[in-house]
Amino acid sequence: MSATANLTVRRYAHTDLPQIRQALIDVHADVYADAMDDAFNQRFPWFVDHWGSDRTFDCVIAYDGDEPVGFAYGAPSAPYREWWREHLGTVPVAHRTFAYSELAVRTAWRRTGTAALVTRALLDGRKEDLVVLLVDITHPRVQALYESWGFRKVGERRPPVPGAPLCAVMLAGLPLGGPA
Ligand SMILES: CC(C)(COP(=O)(O)OP(=O)(O)OC[C@H]1O[C@@H](n2cnc3c(N)ncnc32)[C@H](O)[C@@H]1OP(=O)(O)O)[C@@H](O)C(=O)NCCC(=O)NCCS
Repeated sequence: MSATANLTVRRYAHTDLPQIRQALIDVHADVYADAMDDAFNQRFPWFVDHWGSDRTFDCVIAYDGDEPVGFAYGAPSAPYREWWREHLGTVPVAHRTFAYSELAVRTAWRRTGTAALVTRALLDGRKEDLVVLLVDITHPRVQALYESWGFRKVGERRPPVPGAPLCAVMLAGLPLGGPA
């Protein structure tokens, strides 16, 4: 039996935000427990409300029993405001894009396939042509994880939010080709 076999993955939309908001905040607080002195990390509830207020918000949460252990969420990019746009010389013919905003898995469930499980669950349900995400350039191992799922770095971008790190812009076609 795989390590993720006991997990239940549930999908949520904008209207579910009141129901899932605290679970997202609690998982994030656990994941970043050693780094909550960072003002950017402290802003996570603002990000949850920002993304969750989008009527196209899409989120999956993995549960072990009743306990939320990881999540993935995002929303479709506004056309012409995709994070990849300034970095590609030629715009792909098929360019509807899903912005994959957040992925987090609690420490005890790391290296179990849970990150791939929630990523697949989120992205396999999408109709867009592309998926784009941002990853802190000082986290090359996380970037390598995304590369193993078929993402490639197309540029760098600093999100326009106080304290945001410089990030690699990573792009993949949908459905994902890698073994996520
Ligand atoms: C990213 C994440 C979901 C991957 O989970 P996983 O598939 O079980 O893989 P791991 O936890 O083993 O992480 C993969 C590698 O990235 C590294 N890594 C993970 N999160 C990291 C972070 N926030 N900062 C720096 N390195 C990190 C791990 O140390 C590991 O490196 P290693 O292979 O050299 O041991 C999980 O590590 C996590 O929740 N990290 C914190 C949140 C995060 O960084 N999310 C991604 C935002 S773009």
